[in-house]
Amino acid sequence: HTATWDVDAAEKGGYEHFMLKEIHEQPVAIAKTIAGRFKDGIPDFSESGITAEMLGKYKRIYMVACGTAMHAGLVGKYLIEKLARVEVTVDIASEFRYRSPLIGEGDLVILISQSGETADTLAALKLSKKLGADTLSVVNVIGSSIARESDYVIYTHAGPEISVASTKAYSVQLTIMYMLAFQLAYVRGVIDADQCREYVRKFQEIPDEITALLEDKEQYQYIASKLMNADSLLYIGRGLDYATSMEGSLKLKEISYIHSESYAAGELKHGTISLITEGMPVIAIATQEDLLEKTISNVLEVKARGAMVVMLCKEKAQVASNVADYMIRLPDCEDFLAPMLTSIPIQLLAYYTAVLKGRDVDKPRNLAKSVTVE
Ligand code: G6P
Repeated sequence: HTATWDVDAAEKGGYEHFMLKEIHEQPVAIAKTIAGRFKDGIPDFSESGITAEMLGKYKRIYMVACGTAMHAGLVGKYLIEKLARVEVTVDIASEFRYRSPLIGEGDLVILISQSGETADTLAALKLSKKLGADTLSVVNVIGSSIARESDYVIYTHAGPEISVASTKAYSVQLTIMYMLAFQLAYVRGVIDADQCREYVRKFQEIPDEITALLEDKEQYQYIASKLMNADSLLYIGRGLDYATSMEGSLKLKEISYIHSESYAAGELKHGTISLITEGMPVIAIATQEDLLEKTISNVLEVKARGAMVVMLCKEKAQVASNVADYMIRLPDCEDFLAPMLTSIPIQLLAYYTAVLKGRDVDKPRNLAKSVTVE
């Protein structure tokens, strides 16, 4: 058995789990995913057959995917609508395929999938083609079914992802969302070439910032020790932080088995706040400057009802010391880039909570890496 163990350890590159190894691979995966995909400093996917002219003409964009990939699409929606002013609809593939979607010629459907084999996403792709929409897949596995069947494919370059809980595949899906949003903003004339290059330049700092974030693990282990005995917890946020909080909640529940929900912070008062009891953890993501005060007031509402608050904010955010029990600070960055950085704390909180609970981190019960049946 020693030999098997050695092979296993070698495959994990010295990390205890594939998930932790894959979390650490993110800076490289992101850099690989953007490499060679620029023309004069502007994102460019003409290698995949996607021209600026095409991108300039779509009336509407749909993002269709499952699980973590769907959450990447949600970030994509906020980004593309904000930066490029194009309407984007996000759908869960299993809903999309049965809801008679109003799509057709002139629409672009973007299918996002790590494996490229998810049955519902593949069915959504076939339906979109049948209805006359253009289809573009964002896929990690080369030559997979979704990649083969879509009109256009942009590969992410995460390399093989073994852990069932997706981490690096998510970051590179986000990376493609950013590149598309930047290019769309440019081709649609919302920003000029210089502004677009400036966005790209700021994005290129992300891999190093992630590397720095990964160095400080003790705080995540410590906060995980405060989360591990909860029966239930909430993730809250607004805007882009809401999209990230959905992913944070999924990551945590799928591997730690702690019940978790994600809520738009402003929606809490319409029902969910009744769940707050003494000591219940609420993880609030608040990276968006224009929404900070709003989110703080939501946090104070849950705190007044006994919640144990963990808050994720940028370094410069002014937050009074009575607002949160635990504060996680992220490097200052443009607000629209925050999802690239907040992904790290949400992954590490999920990881260490699952480890402390003795869960089978890489192979959580009842879940499969790729769901190829309906
Ligand atoms: C499964 C996995 C998830 C993944 C989802 C979509 O549920 O456990 O981690 O996000 O499928 O997979 P895909 O390969 O299409 O991205």
